[in-house]
Amino acid sequence: MEAVLIKNFAQHIGKEVTVQGWLYNKRSSGKILFLIVRDGSGLVQGVLVKQEIGEDLFALGKQLTQESSVRLTGIVKEEPRSVGGYEMQITGLEVICIAEEYPITHKEHGVDFLADRRHLWIRAPRQMAILRIRSEIEHALRQFFYERDFVLADAPIMTPAACEGTTTLFELDYHGEKAYLSQSGQLYNEATAMALGRIYCFGPTFRAEKSKTRRHLMEFWMIEAEMAYLDMNDNMQLQEEMITYVIQRVVDRCARELKILDRDVEKLKAIKLPFPRISYTEAVEILKQAGEEFVWGDDFGAPHETIISSHFNAPVFVHRYPTEIKAFYMKPDPEDPRVVLGADLLAPEGYGEIIGGGQRIDDLALLQARIAEHKLPEEAFAWYLDLRRYGSVPHSGFGLGLERTVAWLCGLEHIRETIPFPRMLHKMYP
Ligand code: 4AD
Repeated sequence: MEAVLIKNFAQHIGKEVTVQGWLYNKRSSGKILFLIVRDGSGLVQGVLVKQEIGEDLFALGKQLTQESSVRLTGIVKEEPRSVGGYEMQITGLEVICIAEEYPITHKEHGVDFLADRRHLWIRAPRQMAILRIRSEIEHALRQFFYERDFVLADAPIMTPAACEGTTTLFELDYHGEKAYLSQSGQLYNEATAMALGRIYCFGPTFRAEKSKTRRHLMEFWMIEAEMAYLDMNDNMQLQEEMITYVIQRVVDRCARELKILDRDVEKLKAIKLPFPRISYTEAVEILKQAGEEFVWGDDFGAPHETIISSHFNAPVFVHRYPTEIKAFYMKPDPEDPRVVLGADLLAPEGYGEIIGGGQRIDDLALLQARIAEHKLPEEAFAWYLDLRRYGSVPHSGFGLGLERTVAWLCGLEHIRETIPFPRMLHKMYP
């Protein structure tokens, strides 16, 4: 009999089905055994009655340890009091592998203990819920761009030059030459956007961050869009449409997972277009009014972002940052060259910056001057300067950090749970 997924049990009420999975938990009360089994799509309680199934299979059921792999056959019944709302009246049981004593029990464990066993920790219902939501977010993002005729143009992972400053580069030996793991696909995106108009890339990016925080990974996934002929305002509008699209998808399709995580879904549902937009200077005013000693020109730290975003119920764009604290490629504001036409999107509820983006310098001489000011090697950027030589146009783009978005939508304290195998400061195992 072909196996069915537990999440699809509603279509099988009253029928005999087979489920392939692992034993999550077990209880017995005399001549009845309750086997709670997970198959990756959900949990279901299987009920084994000794009298109905016979001595041998009942004894086999009793031997099962946590995480033993099993194939269960039984009749699906609605049972609102059971986990997931269904039960299986077991008619057959096949044991694939009896698991050794499982290190992660149903008691509380410390985070370091769990992190060292991440390859097993991901089997916990909460971790599976997060990973399912992450998957849904990735699909929604790709769908969003597909529906708007963006071309998926993947950027390289090994690069000859820095995009986001030289302090967080992971260096490689590329056949005797220095190379780096990509911090961002943006520079290549600008090239593909000049070819294809509207493009995006979605891949892993790497930053040797020296700080240990709740928001930083060394390896994280970023979806980055780049659009020829779009200015900073068009760019922000696209981002807010993308975020509301993703929220809608997650709320519609991940209700079960959000419930497992105890996420306050009303806060997500309340987010409406358009998102508030404030300048960096206005954000500094908010900080000063909150009693912070903040000097115009400094960059925001996580606590500053939390104060700023706490004034809004939706994500907020902060635009026009001081030139000095932003990347070399950002276009100066023609009205005030002390600031650039860049905008970051801060998530509500203290989740911090989830998107960085803005309008790029399209003038050759200015870009050359900036590359020199930032002491970047001009030879490595020769190809990038060509984009300003051959049909330069105003263009904008952005990058959304997937893990920070997952942390926000799932309502997680720490970024380490947002990716199957996080790469943290001084932590690579498993
Ligand atoms: O603001 P950032 O540095 O922007 C860029 O890299 C641009 N080149 C993107 C572009 O315009 N194409 O990074 C973008 C986002 C941040 O808002 C954050 O969500 C995420 O990437 N991010 C990190 N996420 C986890 N761990 C880290 N160490 C991160 N650094 C950035």
